[in-house]
Amino acid sequence: MSSDPSVSAYLISSSDAGVSAAFTRLAQADLDPGEVTVRVQYASVNYKDALAATGKGRIIRRFPCVGGIDASGVVVASDAPQFKPGDEVIVHGHGFGVSHHGGYATLARAPAAWVNRLPAGMSLLDAITLGVAGYTAALGIDAMELNGLHPSKGKVLVNGATGGVASVSIDLLAQRGYEVVAVTGKPAQAPYLRELGASEVIASADLPSGTRPLEPALWQGAVDSLGGAPLSMLTRSVRKDGVIAAIGNAAGLEFTTSVMPFILRGVRLLGINSDNDPPLREHVWQRLATDLRPRHLARIAHVVPFEQLPQAIDAVIGGQARGRTVIRIGG
Ligand SMILES: NC(=O)c1ccc[n+]([C@@H]2O[C@H](COP(=O)([O-])OP(=O)(O)OC[C@H]3O[C@@H](n4cnc5c(N)ncnc54)[C@H](OP(=O)(O)O)[C@@H]3O)[C@@H](O)[C@H]2O)c1
Repeated sequence: MSSDPSVSAYLISSSDAGVSAAFTRLAQADLDPGEVTVRVQYASVNYKDALAATGKGRIIRRFPCVGGIDASGVVVASDAPQFKPGDEVIVHGHGFGVSHHGGYATLARAPAAWVNRLPAGMSLLDAITLGVAGYTAALGIDAMELNGLHPSKGKVLVNGATGGVASVSIDLLAQRGYEVVAVTGKPAQAPYLRELGASEVIASADLPSGTRPLEPALWQGAVDSLGGAPLSMLTRSVRKDGVIAAIGNAAGLEFTTSVMPFILRGVRLLGINSDNDPPLREHVWQRLATDLRPRHLARIAHVVPFEQLPQAIDAVIGGQARGRTVIRIGG
């Protein structure tokens, strides 16, 4: 690396021995190109970050790469007219932390299309507590409501409930007046899930486990972080004209179902992808500051210092984390 190593970073590398990650120092000139340079205040550990840093998932597309698929901080330099030094921003999406140096660094540089100015009233800590997970939760709810989800139509299931996407989803849905059923592999966390707004908590093991093409119809909709067998069951147990947001794959990539839920119940299975262009990003971040504003971010966030990032990653990959793991980098 260069002789002016002013940037502290957590760099993911690959060798014959496999993927490894370590703290290092980079020069500003080592950062990838982009119009906006940000002094990072916070980053976070999403499930994808944990897969990337441990090599348990093939996430990184360019080695070496500074990890961290989201970061919040303050603009220090900008070649884009819509940003100026001093702006508080969140950076996420596209190649950030995947094929372009990401948020686990004291300084990050990114294309302007990957940056959003924080909506009025949103702090840097709130923004990263949401991060990719919260953005995706809001994107999913936005899409579900466009497809008929409404508080008057019955229960909404959220699985993987103690996870980041799910914790924020529960908060947002409850705040909107939905009756939320949280499904978790950690039933001892029921008090936490009820605090976020779940009116019912079900242990994953107690969910219906039938194999018929159509099972009893229980929910008007579901936010799915899991994929695999849990998503299969959701397709078969959602009510007529119900809506499922397919967001994640924590339980598996593949699922089987039949066409019956789709042609006999009109079930809508919505694919949710958080790599969006600026207009949709702006819409979703604005909703997160207004009608979709969460109420329990302080409860959802677990803030740890930068030097404890490796342990925080291990906790996420080991399934011991809850809510959103926030990494304090600046300040
Ligand atoms: N589509 C997109 O653009 C997008 C954006 C963000 C995230 N995602 C995906 O969404 C998923 C959730 O992300 P996240 O950051 O919220 O992850 P997370 O915080 O690690 O939460 C995942 C949760 O799923 C449950 N879980 C974990 N492993 C499981 C397993 N093997 N079987 C069943 N349940 C399991 C756990 O909840 P319980 O113990 O409470 O059940 C865990 O807390 C991930 O697959 C991620 O890649 C996709």
